[in-house]
Amino acid sequence: MFQLEAMLALLILAFLGTPTVLTQDYHGPEVGKHSCTSTPEEKNITSIRVFLQARSIVGIQFNYDDKDGQVYGSTAGKEMVARLSKEEHITGVEGSYSPSALTQIVFTTTQPRQLMVGYHVGIYQYSSYPDDPSFVLKGACVSWRAGGIKSILFLWGSENSSCVKYGHSG
Ligand SMILES: *[C@@H]1O[C@H](CO)[C@@H](O)[C@H](O)[C@H]1NC(C)=O
Ligand SMILES: *[C@@H]1O[C@H](CO)[C@@H](O)[C@H](O)[C@H]1NC(C)=O
Repeated sequence: MFQLEAMLALLILAFLGTPTVLTQDYHGPEVGKHSCTSTPEEKNITSIRVFLQARSIVGIQFNYDDKDGQVYGSTAGKEMVARLSKEEHITGVEGSYSPSALTQIVFTTTQPRQLMVGYHVGIYQYSSYPDDPSFVLKGACVSWRAGGIKSILFLWGSENSSCVKYGHSG
């Protein structure tokens, strides 16, 4: 019993001692091309579009105040869009990925509701939340190769600021 407790305490210490591992979390293998996008000053995310081939997310686009953002990856295949209402913000993200590509993103919003893109087929699950619960989703960093978005890291910040921070998982 004592040993189990000691081990748990060590585990907790190990977690507390490695905040960079917990906070800079790419979901999926960080390979291929990289880029980041975040909300310009005074603007909000209005939609997030993904492009799917079979059940893999091969392209992703963040749009701010209804202006099309840059597409990372490919625009081939089927489109799915998570569209936010005015004054609606994203407060958490979960989803799944497979070894070959990101497969699903589920956004929880202030409405409150969930908006989903992709399919729940990936064998690995992820989640991302801001460290400060008043923060909202401001953008993301992605890595991609031909054939798939390989990984994604979500960026968080206060509604009225363009400054972004990493969040945490779980
Ligand atoms: C962006 O979001 C903030 C906070 O909800 C809101 O006050 C503002 O009106 C929004 N801006 C636009 C252009 O919709
Ligand atoms: C953001 O700014 C809007 C308009 O100036 C204000 O109504 C809102 O309360 C602000 N939100 C935060 C989180 O400070």
